[in-house]
Amino acid sequence: MLISAQHKLANVIHHDFRLIPIISRFGIRFGFGDKTIRQICDENSVNPHFFLEILNAFHDSEYKSDKLMQSFSLKQTVDYLLKSHRYYNLEKIPQIQTLIDKSEWQTSEQSKHKELIVKFFEHYKKEAASHIQFEEKHIYPYVLFVEAAFLEQKLSSELRDKIKHSPVRKYKGEHDELNTALFDLKNIIIKYLPPADNPEITIQILTEIFRLEKDMQDHTRIEDKVLLPKVQAMENELLKLGVG
Ligand SMILES: [Fe+2]
Ligand SMILES: [Fe+2]
Repeated sequence: MLISAQHKLANVIHHDFRLIPIISRFGIRFGFGDKTIRQICDENSVNPHFFLEILNAFHDSEYKSDKLMQSFSLKQTVDYLLKSHRYYNLEKIPQIQTLIDKSEWQTSEQSKHKELIVKFFEHYKKEAASHIQFEEKHIYPYVLFVEAAFLEQKLSSELRDKIKHSPVRKYKGEHDELNTALFDLKNIIIKYLPPADNPEITIQILTEIFRLEKDMQDHTRIEDKVLLPKVQAMENELLKLGVG
């Protein structure tokens, strides 16, 4: 289904509940009745094109958004990406942590199972934290700096040096490691651990990890397929200008 501005947002959520976190990331609150996406965007001062692009990209991983998406400012894209980082750090990861804390194996021999999940999750948290930190400290500010210069059509010698050592190139492979850490965590639960004494918790842990993974994949797709190509195109254009 291609989501468009005429659709009622309530129907869209009934159709795909995984879009719930995206809606709150845009500051849209529930209780919107039968309003269409266009009406809700107007009321919440949200750019409807950008909102639709994100909804569609999350709803359908095959969705080819690039043309429209490329026309949005990098600032807007970075703002959105920062909000999803906050969602991972403040909601999703703590939620999974609480569930893991609740999982129980009675005997001391079996309590090793819990230690194993904790260990894998700690590893993932470390990887995610350092990845997010790197993006927020190095990638996003750099992207905004390049966009600002691009809009002014000005290449300073400082920027030329920065572009020459662009952090964007070495950042490209980073996302694979993050996905591997989450995949390993899922796998030990699915394939290797005997069920906990409270198996319903195991099911919740797994479900939430799958949700986090899906959200992260879509987030990463926006970074890899929108942010990076666009900033690299700007870098190339700026270099052509010559220092002025
Ligand atoms: Fe990110
Ligand atoms: Fe990332």
